[in-house]
Amino acid sequence: MNVLIIGGGGREHALAWKISQSPKLKKLYALPGNPGIEEFAECVSGISTDDNSAIVNFAKDKKIDLVVVGPEAPLVNGLVDALEIAGIKSFGCKKAAAQIEGSKIFAKNLMKKYNIPTADFEVFDDLNLAKDYIRKKGAPIVIKADGLAAGKGVIVAQNLDEAIQAVDDMKNFGTAGSKIVVEECMVGEEASLLVFTDGKTIAPMVAAQDHKRVFDGDKGLNTGGMGAYAPAPIADEKVLRLAEEKILKPIVSALKSEGIEYRGCLYAGLMIVEGEPKVVEFNARFGDPETQAVLPLLKSDLLEIMLACAEGNLAEKEISRSSESAICVIAASGGYPGSYKKNLPIEGIEKAKALGALVFHAGTAKKDGKIVTSGGRVLGVTVTAENLEKAVERVYKCMEVINFEDMHYRKDIAAKAFAGSNRI
Ligand code: AMP
Ligand code: GLY
Repeated sequence: MNVLIIGGGGREHALAWKISQSPKLKKLYALPGNPGIEEFAECVSGISTDDNSAIVNFAKDKKIDLVVVGPEAPLVNGLVDALEIAGIKSFGCKKAAAQIEGSKIFAKNLMKKYNIPTADFEVFDDLNLAKDYIRKKGAPIVIKADGLAAGKGVIVAQNLDEAIQAVDDMKNFGTAGSKIVVEECMVGEEASLLVFTDGKTIAPMVAAQDHKRVFDGDKGLNTGGMGAYAPAPIADEKVLRLAEEKILKPIVSALKSEGIEYRGCLYAGLMIVEGEPKVVEFNARFGDPETQAVLPLLKSDLLEIMLACAEGNLAEKEISRSSESAICVIAASGGYPGSYKKNLPIEGIEKAKALGALVFHAGTAKKDGKIVTSGGRVLGVTVTAENLEKAVERVYKCMEVINFEDMHYRKDIAAKAFAGSNRI
């Protein structure tokens, strides 16, 4: 098969790495790809990931059998719809289904209609009414922009002043913030559960836990994710069963009842509140960096699973998972998620690989044949081992051999897994 991956982050590097192991693969392309993906795929430049017709033409020209869409923006932008019209298969959901991530109001209303557990909420387009509601409800309280806001449209306000300020700040998100959701603040521990689905059957991957804040101890600003590990013990058997029965199967069939078939990867961001999962958010795609921890634990052929999702025969697939644990630690540019330097030479990637790590590129570029930094999240370093303790020990040894100026990484990825019942 000829396969085209859309995207160029750490998630797409992990997808390319795993897809390249498939005996079914003939040729892999990536748009735009990155210097790590280059090892497995021909990286394509000169086409924008939001130019649906150029991508369709490229796919026709190269006789692409499957397009794998990594990020949310092309999904929301209808890339899969455009490919379908041209008779090209995709792993990814269509525009209507991508609303589950693209519009918080769509997702919340759907959950309400079909009784899927989530935080209580109200929707406002009048910001003064939102403020009145917040004053009535009190803090802590959560304020969200409706549309995609590059992960910045959610504010968990600890007091009333912060909450009122958050409502005013929603104006900064343009159309994404013209309508807002105000919701109950859930208290618990989070887990990310990613599932493959063909719109009828769901096949969950191993549950992961992301670390969104920039500093140890969940301090500092929210980021795209500073590290992840899997399986996450907070998502025990009971939580997984409840998530499957009360959240994942119901949401896929709810979408179907609304005339929307969801195919691809569905990501449920869960809050485990007193042993029961509630939905924080849905994403219409693989998580980043969850994918870099979850895919190394997938034993089955990813390309076959993706094709089964696209063709609607996932029920016939046996999916096997490794019993090992995996951890991915992100090496970020100092200053991220604020401003940071670029073009800094990166050392030690090969050394870390020699120690057994998978080094996934995210914000990297090639300059004069050398790998340099080019983004906030630079590398995702993943180690798998027979248990999480060993994986943690080994991944941090690998982090010590990687270096670039001002490199920052969290030293406590997976610490919550060992915190037992004292979880916060
Ligand atoms: P999002 O950008 O939608 O992933 O949200 C960012 C983060 O905000 C989530 O990972 C949670 O930590 C937090 N969050 C969102 N909604 C709630 C909620 N209702 N209660 C508590 N925390 C929340
Ligand atoms: N790691 C969070 C996300 O992919 O949305």
